[in-house]
Amino acid sequence: MATTDQDDQLVTPWEVTAASQKGVDYDKLIKKFGSTKIEDSLIERIARLTGKPAHHLMRRGIIFSHRDVGLILDAYEKGKPFFLYTGRGPSSEAMHLGHLIPFVFTKYLQDVFDVPLVIQMTDDEKFLWKDMSVEEARRLASENAKDIIAFGFDKEKTSSPDFYKTILRVEKCVTVNQVKGIFGFNDSDCIGKISFPAIQAAPSFSCSFPQIFGGKKDIACLIPCAIDQDPYFRMTRDVAPRLGYPKPALLHSTFLPALQGAMTKMSASEASTSIYLTDSADDIRDKINKYAYSGGQSTVEEHRRVGGNVDVDVSYQYLTFFLEDDEKLAKIEKDYSSGAMLTGDLKKELISVVQQVVAEHQQRRQQVTEQMVQEFMTPRKLKYSS
Ligand code: TYM
Repeated sequence: MATTDQDDQLVTPWEVTAASQKGVDYDKLIKKFGSTKIEDSLIERIARLTGKPAHHLMRRGIIFSHRDVGLILDAYEKGKPFFLYTGRGPSSEAMHLGHLIPFVFTKYLQDVFDVPLVIQMTDDEKFLWKDMSVEEARRLASENAKDIIAFGFDKEKTSSPDFYKTILRVEKCVTVNQVKGIFGFNDSDCIGKISFPAIQAAPSFSCSFPQIFGGKKDIACLIPCAIDQDPYFRMTRDVAPRLGYPKPALLHSTFLPALQGAMTKMSASEASTSIYLTDSADDIRDKINKYAYSGGQSTVEEHRRVGGNVDVDVSYQYLTFFLEDDEKLAKIEKDYSSGAMLTGDLKKELISVVQQVVAEHQQRRQQVTEQMVQEFMTPRKLKYSS
């Protein structure tokens, strides 16, 4: 299948396997997928144009790759509008810390650019792929929508009558052979799976949302997501010119590793790899102490002498995602690498950071009512300045 590496790593929307504990080789992936590495100049340009400091996920190379973001910024500089699109396939009651990453970054983009945002909840995708009833998939979508609203978005919308027309247009452009090549589907897969990529593609085009864009079909779209979703958007970019629509631009993030190590990503379908946004402070402490893969040495003496390996240490890796204080992070890196800091202390640091992130999220989520979910889910006109 086309998304499988010839060598030893695999990154698809369904599976992530790295060749070593250091995790996915993202430079290799950029070459394979044909995307572009994010250079410092792009980060500086975003900071200059928005007048806001660059997000720590960009500064630290966690948002590491893109497609055509320069074109979005060119348009923005000329006062032309664009919109953001991201999504979630509600496969579990609770979202996990990895899912936070694209949403936290999307929230930052919405705040600094003040542009409309579309969030697609693909309960249909999870119904087709998992052993789950349509009703259950819909219920999980509504539960996950509460988490997403709790991330603090101003505005959101999901679908509209015209949305289906865009799906049809995309479906007509893509052959079964093409989706087999891109996604590895085979003749035993149900027809729902074969046509699903058109559903994930459709929100990339502004004509899908007449209530937001008044029927305009040329408004550019920027999609923040982890790089596992890229195959959908390679397909989307391929069909866009044939439909007379702009190709969506992308910003890709790396994966928050599984607790057991960066050989794979944190995944909702593998409960032991994940810290969920519903976990209690004690759950978080226990999971990190028990599972977080350590780059430390086997005895204290050896650790003091050789130092720890931050390249493979999951606690350190998580801190790069969630500890915003650059100076503190640099000190932890130095002390752990030199052996001055022990694994237990590093884990303690991570436990308190993650407990705080999750507790704050849980407080915000408690404020989200069914009525708010209804309001966010209703197609409507949005307010934005561009
Ligand atoms: P889903 O629900 O698997 O994931 C939601 C978002 O989280 C990203 N993600 C991660 N990011 C960092 N570390 C991880 N361990 C991790 N695991 C998941 C995903 O890349 C995604 O951005 N088919 C999609 C739903 C969807 C969508 C979209 C996603 C529909 N339209 C447009 C992004 C953009 C899905 O099942 O995502």
